[in-house]
Amino acid sequence: MNTSAPNKTIVITGASDGIGAVAARALAGADVNLVITGRSADKLDAVAQATGATAFTADFAKLDDVRDLAEQIARHVDGIDVLLNNAGGTFEPNKLRTVDGHEPNFQIGHLSPFLLTNLLHPPLAADDGALVVNTSSIANLVGHVDLDDLDWTRRRAFQTRCYGTAKLENILFTRGIAKRWADDGIVSAAVHPGPVGSSFGRDSFFVGLAYRTPLRRFATITPEKGAEPLISLAQRGADPAVNGVYFERHKPNGRESRQAHDPALIDGLWTRSAQLVGL
Ligand SMILES: NC(=O)c1ccc[n+]([C@@H]2O[C@H](COP(=O)([O-])OP(=O)(O)OC[C@H]3O[C@@H](n4cnc5c(N)ncnc54)[C@H](OP(=O)(O)O)[C@@H]3O)[C@@H](O)[C@H]2O)c1
Repeated sequence: MNTSAPNKTIVITGASDGIGAVAARALAGADVNLVITGRSADKLDAVAQATGATAFTADFAKLDDVRDLAEQIARHVDGIDVLLNNAGGTFEPNKLRTVDGHEPNFQIGHLSPFLLTNLLHPPLAADDGALVVNTSSIANLVGHVDLDDLDWTRRRAFQTRCYGTAKLENILFTRGIAKRWADDGIVSAAVHPGPVGSSFGRDSFFVGLAYRTPLRRFATITPEKGAEPLISLAQRGADPAVNGVYFERHKPNGRESRQAHDPALIDGLWTRSAQLVGL
């Protein structure tokens, strides 16, 4: 018997840097078919070299990139055991729209992982059980989802609020999966990794400044520490006990916006997002 044949497939987005790269290094192994994605090919290549992972680049500001990515992943895998939807960052909402015309925090933070996960539903449902982890944030507390203004054209778009809203949408999406895909053996959890001194905020002048000052050493934890909850959830796998749960690092039932459990919002966000990406 070939004991080194992969028996588990793990897909990690945003694995070219930060906590995603740390998780990729920790979860790699001879028994794992590891697939990593990122925006920058060079950075992603370095992680692929270190882990033996298969790497695909895609910019989540382009929905067509996400569609191509899903196709490439689906061609490469038989099934998916764990999908870590981790790519993200905080983006200035008023400077530019995405290629598809969306507010960038909304598209990169929510709409693109929503599309990717839906397109990967067949391989996720293929095996006995699968886990989808969405990297959310404590910033969900300052978010507010308005189904009639997902793209921030009617409200003043402050960056923290737009970012927090995308992170709240990660929790709502997690609960959408928990509700809709449980019969397919698919379990989903959301997680706040902590305030991580990663490259986070490099797409935003102000947030980047805060994360680059010497204070960063006192205000943040290392990417190694930040990745720990993602790694332990991935190792735990499709445990029904985590379905629909938002973790604040390792602690279940973290602090969340009052909107996070609203069933109408969970359904409404799913329906509206599906319309926006043409599902
Ligand atoms: N750092 C924190 O304090 C903190 C706190 C709470 C939650 N989070 C969340 O944790 C996740 C990982 O963040 P991190 O701290 O590890 O940050 P990071 O070091 O900046 O890593 C972010 C990852 O996401 C990818 N990414 C960013 N924009 C992308 C885009 N448009 N298309 C495709 N990929 C893109 C990056 O790819 P490239 O490097 O190739 O560009 C990188 O691999 C994010 O979802 C973030 O919101 C972070």
